[in-house]
Amino acid sequence: MSDTHPTPSAVGAPSGGPVVARTRDELRTARASLTGGDVAVVMTMGALHEGHATLIETARRKAAHVVVTIFLNPLQFGPREDLSRYPRTFDSDMEICRKAGVDLVFAPTPDVIYQDGDPGVRVSAGPLGNVLEGQARPGHFDGMLTVVGKLMHLTGADSAYFGQKDAQQLLLIRRMVRDLDFPVDVVSVPTVREPDGLAMSSRNTYLTDSDREVALCLSRALRAGASAAAEGPSAIRRAARSVLVREPLALVDYLVLVHPSTLEDVPEWYRGEALLAVAGRVGTTRLIDNVPLLVGPGGRALEVFSDVDTATPAIPSATGRPDAD
Ligand code: PAJ
Repeated sequence: MSDTHPTPSAVGAPSGGPVVARTRDELRTARASLTGGDVAVVMTMGALHEGHATLIETARRKAAHVVVTIFLNPLQFGPREDLSRYPRTFDSDMEICRKAGVDLVFAPTPDVIYQDGDPGVRVSAGPLGNVLEGQARPGHFDGMLTVVGKLMHLTGADSAYFGQKDAQQLLLIRRMVRDLDFPVDVVSVPTVREPDGLAMSSRNTYLTDSDREVALCLSRALRAGASAAAEGPSAIRRAARSVLVREPLALVDYLVLVHPSTLEDVPEWYRGEALLAVAGRVGTTRLIDNVPLLVGPGGRALEVFSDVDTATPAIPSATGRPDAD
């Protein structure tokens, strides 16, 4: 693990590893050399693990060129959050990028991204940014969308790959791209898990061995919920909750079954795709996890939602439900 960054260089290593760009000029030069095909971007905050590697490999299979950004975005961290202790592992990050065949790594410092200091103008996530994670982390999604928008512009990517692991982030990025007409194709990648079910996360390194045992209740609860998917919303919620209540050391912030595009609780009669999401604190670490579900006949866990872009119609109000009288 290293905190130090190599000498800035916009030149590819002789071994054929990725070109590293630190400045806007270096990025512009390196980006201009990616010709003859489309460019995909995978945005990260570093501390890369197999989840990130899977995003990169998926992008690698679909696009001619892959750009990875490594930027620990101060704008999306609250004053009492973990920015200063967030793991920094640049050397091993580069190794993962090299193995995965990344063309270009953009690893700027905050002053490169925020040239004039804190941006006065930011992207607003709107109401969807104030619920669930947004409620626990005020301003987080505005800061996240602001940097994602900037990185989309700076990298000039045709497509961008994001993990289902951060379901609300993914939804908000899709909304931003639609609502603000970014010419970028957003691709969802299923959550990558440890063999025991724990969703991979850079924050898992904070967990002690005993925390890690406790943390397993989150993915176990999601699996329990998924196994009740055919029975309907209250059975799903009950099954998931019954796992969590047996683990008092996990301080659950929320467990919800919500509509994938509105994030509103789905009513008992709802059938179709829904997001079962959980967040909680284990030891000093806040963890999130989720599973996309098909609720009702044929109910099961899904890898990603089928067609989030065409915004599944919002849940009709109780009076508008098809069989209401
Ligand atoms: P970070 O947490 O580094 O995650 C980068 C990308 O990897 C995100 O799209 C995230 O959803 C995905 N990812 C993380 N863990 C995953 C897992 N276990 N399986 C699949 N994908 C996973 O998310 C961010 O950074 C930042 O908010 C960012 C989008 C880079 C903006 O700063």
